[in-house]
Amino acid sequence: MGTDKDTQTKYFNIFTDKDSIIIRRCTLEDLEEVIEVNEKELPEDYPYFFYKSILDNYADSFLVACNSSEKVIGYIMWRVEKLPSKYNLEFTNKGHLVSIAVLKNYRRLGIASALLNKSMLKVKNHNIDEFVLEVRVSNYLAISLYKKFKFKTHSIKNKYYRDGENAYYMTLKA
Ligand code: ACO
Ligand code: ZN
Repeated sequence: MGTDKDTQTKYFNIFTDKDSIIIRRCTLEDLEEVIEVNEKELPEDYPYFFYKSILDNYADSFLVACNSSEKVIGYIMWRVEKLPSKYNLEFTNKGHLVSIAVLKNYRRLGIASALLNKSMLKVKNHNIDEFVLEVRVSNYLAISLYKKFKFKTHSIKNKYYRDGENAYYMTLKA
């Protein structure tokens, strides 16, 4: 919840020519602005309760980037899933990147990289063996971001998106 002391931790400061950016945990009060960023930057929209349930269950890795006017200009959210292991008949935990976005005016400043770096450390605490994600095969910017983090394309998920586009399923050993 928003009263948690850790919520206020400033994980990171990025000073750019035009603004100084803070990365911290998302709070309930941030959700409306997170949804605004999502709706501006991604075709995948989720209902409010979906964001709320991610915040309730995986608050430690739900981060926002805010500008000096305290507006949310980027976010990242993850969930942890139990999936069959690739190596044996056991189940293992995987950190699933649900969504990341940065407003256009704030791109290419290292904000997404900082969001990923900080949140992946938190996701790792959930005893995961892999980070996983899906990304549109046409999403060059996001794919190059994930490659920079050493994610590898594991497979293609056919017609993963509602408009029929395929997804790359990318994975990275934790
Ligand atoms: N051209 C080439 N490579 C780029 C570009 C670009 N314009 N922008 C980012 N990259 C790659 C580069 O490798 C870059 O590293 P570098 O600057 O050291 O070369 C790397 O991504 C990281 O750049 P950042 O500045 O950290 O990324 P940014 O803050 O600009 O955000 C993001 C990247 C999140 C993909 C942004 O473009 C965005 O919000 N896009 C729309 C939303 C989106 O597609 N989200 C991902 C959907 S998939 C999912 O959520 C699971
Ligand atoms: Zn997914």
